[in-house]
Amino acid sequence: MLTDSFGRLHTYLRISLTERCNLRCHYCMPDEGVKLTPSPLLLSQNEIVRLANLFVSSGVDKIRLTGGEPTIRKDIEDICLQLSNLKGLKTLAMTTNGITLAKRLPKFKECGLNLLNISLDTLVPAKFEFLTRRKGHGRVMESINAAIDLGYNPVKVNCVVMRGFNDNEICDFVELSREKPINVRFIEFMPFDGNVWNVKKLVPYKDMLETVVNQFKNVNRLQDHPTDTAKNFRIEGYCGTVSFITSMTEHFCAGCNRLRLLADGNFKVCLFGPSEVSLRDPIRSGAGDDELKEIIGAAVKKKKAAHAGMFDIAKTTNRPMIHIGG
Ligand code: GTP
Ligand code: 5AD
Ligand code: SF4
Repeated sequence: MLTDSFGRLHTYLRISLTERCNLRCHYCMPDEGVKLTPSPLLLSQNEIVRLANLFVSSGVDKIRLTGGEPTIRKDIEDICLQLSNLKGLKTLAMTTNGITLAKRLPKFKECGLNLLNISLDTLVPAKFEFLTRRKGHGRVMESINAAIDLGYNPVKVNCVVMRGFNDNEICDFVELSREKPINVRFIEFMPFDGNVWNVKKLVPYKDMLETVVNQFKNVNRLQDHPTDTAKNFRIEGYCGTVSFITSMTEHFCAGCNRLRLLADGNFKVCLFGPSEVSLRDPIRSGAGDDELKEIIGAAVKKKKAAHAGMFDIAKTTNRPMIHIGG
């Protein structure tokens, strides 16, 4: 079992499948793009499955595929199939921008994908184009609807709230949850390398909640799971739910159960901070499973209580979000 020195059990692994993306969101990567790891240094499908298997045999029961944009990876269907067949894995999830999802989702579902989070930060197509530097708003909406039609329930919609950009759309987003099994998740804007984060752009959870409570009657808090990233609410009579991910103003590190495997094979025990250890290098020098488990276990034991032990995460080096996958 992957328990850290604070007694937190790690059962959720996020695997970044690629550093590439078909959008260029300002909050995720610098204007000039990011330096890509040369392909031979990225984990192969076999390496990913081998490592995932080790994690699952160490107690991980949920894997989330991230990126970059995970659907860009050509062998994603095979990867889903192999991961969903791992004995002990209960949930295979994906976080995607939904650009190419609508047509491909039935196949992903067949390959075992059972939880889906789609990123969408604005309901206005022109603003979408500004933020992502690409077209595609309509296609993301289609993907959300396709996911609902295929029975994903809830379909989680991730909205990073940035003051002056989309904070005036909070109530419109809440409306998405009225008739459909959508969980709208408002996320506090977080600083990563190259994303020009600024405290003035951060809309604190309390302010977002106030906006919702002022507009809608009977906004009821739901019971959260102790490892949840989100604080969850339902507006009485609404089909879906509304949540807030409060990484900046009320972190949820005490219940953290998350680990990260990056596309280049680095293992990261916290979203924040520069601390990483390569699993690719020992694999490629012939390490056995026990040796790999030892490296993983030692890194987990070094995990800090909160925010990678950083006092001010805006001032510490990390990677751009596109490399980490959230
Ligand atoms: P569920 O498994 O459906 O609960 O999703 P999730 O919230 O774990 O993952 P998702 O990829 O949808 O991420 C939503 C937001 O939560 C993103 O902004 C992530 O960066 C953030 N997030 C995910 N995991 C962590 C974490 O461990 N720490 C912090 N601070 N934020 C996280
Ligand atoms: N702050 C908060 N959330 C972010 N995401 C990407 N960059 C940031 C950021 N700077 C979100 C994406 C996606 C999830 C993986 O992380 O919108 O939904
Ligand atoms: Fe876990 Fe680090 Fe996220 Fe806190 S900031 S919840 S410790 S990954």
